[in-house]
Amino acid sequence: MTQHKVWDPFVRLFHWSLVGLFTANALIVDDDSRVHEWIGYAVAALVALRILWGLVGPRHARFAAFAPKQSDVIEQITDIATRRRRTYLGHTPLGALMIFNLILTMLAICASGYMMTSDAFWGVEWVEEVHEILVTWAEISILAHIVAVLYESHRTGINLPRAMVTGTKRVPDDIRIVE
Ligand code: HEM
Ligand code: HEM
Repeated sequence: MTQHKVWDPFVRLFHWSLVGLFTANALIVDDDSRVHEWIGYAVAALVALRILWGLVGPRHARFAAFAPKQSDVIEQITDIATRRRRTYLGHTPLGALMIFNLILTMLAICASGYMMTSDAFWGVEWVEEVHEILVTWAEISILAHIVAVLYESHRTGINLPRAMVTGTKRVPDDIRIVE
């Protein structure tokens, strides 16, 4: 077993705060309230900081370090299909695609939410529908994200959720590390 520090404190704080805030707005808080709007703005601020961190943060947090090439994605699908046990220290190529999807969807949800409160778009039906559809898309994506994290943890023997809490990935000796 080797140990690798991968997720810095900001990435971990960002992740679990986003989980809490998104869940609050999607499932708990009254969506017709001021609190809903403020939680939404907090999500937008968190995501904006994460984008900045993706440009200037440490190695594994950087978008340039995990933006996947098409060939990387195909390699990972081949790993899964052929049960080849390889792993990545940072995000996997498929994981990275999901992260870009989640980050962009969060921004679009917040932008459409803000539009509903503006004079120009207040009461406009399609904006409300876009907000609602994007939230549903985020929920489907999050379910896929969780299933993928659990599957990948099982496949590689690395407890990925634990690493998102402690920052450290514990990698079994019999698995090859790609980078
Ligand atoms: C509202 C629900 C969730 C959202 C919006 C979400 C979003 C994200 C995002 C944006 C990242 C990228 C982190 C970064 O580089 O900044 C990520 C990574 C990750 N998430 Fe989630 N997540 C959610 C729920 C969960 C849950 C419930 C778990 C635990 C089972 C989980 C486990 C992980 C793990 C392990 C990673 C890192 C994957 C890797 O090792 O490459 N997430 N998530
Ligand atoms: C992660 C962020 C957010 C999530 C998960 C979220 C989720 C939701 C959901 C589930 C609804 C109910 C849709 C329906 O079925 O009618 C809703 C409605 C709404 N949201 Fe958001 N929202 C977010 C951000 C925002 C932001 C940033 C704003 C504004 C600043 C906002 C303003 C509104 C408004 C005005 C409504 C309609 C309330 C009504 O009149 O019924 N939301 N949102």
